[in-house]
Amino acid sequence: SQGRHFVGAADTDYAEEEDRTKAARAFAVVRGELGKTYLPLINGEYVQTAEVIDSVNPSNFSEVIGKVGLISVEQAEQAMQAAKAAFPGWRRTPVKERAAILRKAADLMEQRRAELSAWIVLEVGKPVKEADAEVSEAIDFCRYYADEMERLYQGINYDVAGETNRYIYQPRGIAVVISPWNFPLAIACGMTVAALVTGNCTLLKPAETSSVITAKLTEILIDAGIPKGVFQYVPGKGSQVGAYLVSHADTHLIAFTGSQEVGCRIYAEAATLKPLQRHMKRVIAEMGGKNAIIVDESADLDQAVVGVVQSAFGYSGQKCSACSRVVVVEAIYDAFIRRVVEATKSLNIGEAELPSSQVGPVIDANARDRIREYIEKGKAESQVALELSAPNHGYFVGPVIFGEVPPNGTIAQQEIFGPVLAVIKAKDFAQALAIANDTDYALTGGLYSRTPSHIQQAQEEFEVGNLYINRNITGAIVARQPFGGFKLSGVGSKAGGPDYLLQFLEPRTITENI
Ligand code: SER
Repeated sequence: SQGRHFVGAADTDYAEEEDRTKAARAFAVVRGELGKTYLPLINGEYVQTAEVIDSVNPSNFSEVIGKVGLISVEQAEQAMQAAKAAFPGWRRTPVKERAAILRKAADLMEQRRAELSAWIVLEVGKPVKEADAEVSEAIDFCRYYADEMERLYQGINYDVAGETNRYIYQPRGIAVVISPWNFPLAIACGMTVAALVTGNCTLLKPAETSSVITAKLTEILIDAGIPKGVFQYVPGKGSQVGAYLVSHADTHLIAFTGSQEVGCRIYAEAATLKPLQRHMKRVIAEMGGKNAIIVDESADLDQAVVGVVQSAFGYSGQKCSACSRVVVVEAIYDAFIRRVVEATKSLNIGEAELPSSQVGPVIDANARDRIREYIEKGKAESQVALELSAPNHGYFVGPVIFGEVPPNGTIAQQEIFGPVLAVIKAKDFAQALAIANDTDYALTGGLYSRTPSHIQQAQEEFEVGNLYINRNITGAIVARQPFGGFKLSGVGSKAGGPDYLLQFLEPRTITENI
């Protein structure tokens, strides 16, 4: 059936001089605010913390973007108590009012679009255009989930003669949101507003490296009218505060996006009943990927090369949707490798803030070192087709392409989360599909082909949550490409899709004999 019509926010058109001027002005304003301190929000108040960390610009790590107060376990407990106290009021707040807060937040983000993009660019090293698209996605999540909650709130009526049967949804209770740094605004915002609009009191714990942007999201939610205790901003150490909140007896649901390792740990921890706990916790986990694009002999190579390069090296390969494997059929393997290497060579690598930069830095020193280790492993098990150098005043890693990678090699199986592409040769399409599916993950996948039977077979057999045919495999749009994977990529939930909010709700049936 036809999807409901939802119109997303328009991205900035940087071809327009006015928009470019606006962007430049926003950067100047944001630069004037660098180094400020951001505090956690507990029960409607910004609170002091014993620990404060620096969040730095990955393009230039001597630049401090902001100082962020990290909460202690005692403060996490205070936040939990405040959430519990706020819950009875929030669950009774009419859906219309809750949805209105989301729509107001969307409008505020639209007004602050250029500034928010600048914070994203500077705090997580995302190139300008992609940061702008991320702001659009955050806005879309607010408006779409507001609409969706109004739809679900209608419930379903199964009345028969002499008996009413009403199917309704109620909130679950206390939601803990653990958000990643790679979509620091969009994913944090999406998980948070989904939890809020469904009537759950929500604690947001961001990845440490993106805490300033989530502090901006906090300002926006406050300005949009979120009541105290209903939403709380709780930056802290994952291993300490994150773990405490996940295992807390009063937590009802955990919405997590991040690594497979942490996701599995949360899943296990959430399954253990704590003293005084009288409910099962729901875990919404979106984890990694080892996403493949298949290129067959009938593919339009111009299109395939552009799509692979964008998917592999956009945001330095740090999207869970990124392409990290290309499986190419023998007949065109040499031509493809030659062309993908040429196309990658022409990418501009530089500070995320520069309009010319297509590939920026990676998030931090740990990531850079881990990616470099994978590159060394790649060199031991396959051939370097291209290795580009990169600036060293930030956490840069130049794009690397490996050829003749064995399908079961380390760099063909483990998620690297960096600008490293493994090109794998297959004898034919059937073998390419088998190689693409031979992974723990099932997030995104792509096919470049002009052979209808291959396209058909990929639709049926390519095991991924989001399959893209003859286009790049990143940049899912809310209410157009609901996004999320299965196998070890996640629990099968789809952000920006019609089933998403159901996970934050408890369905009930009420029957009355009349
Ligand atoms: N939703 C993003 C994309 O599609 C990844 O998280 O690229």
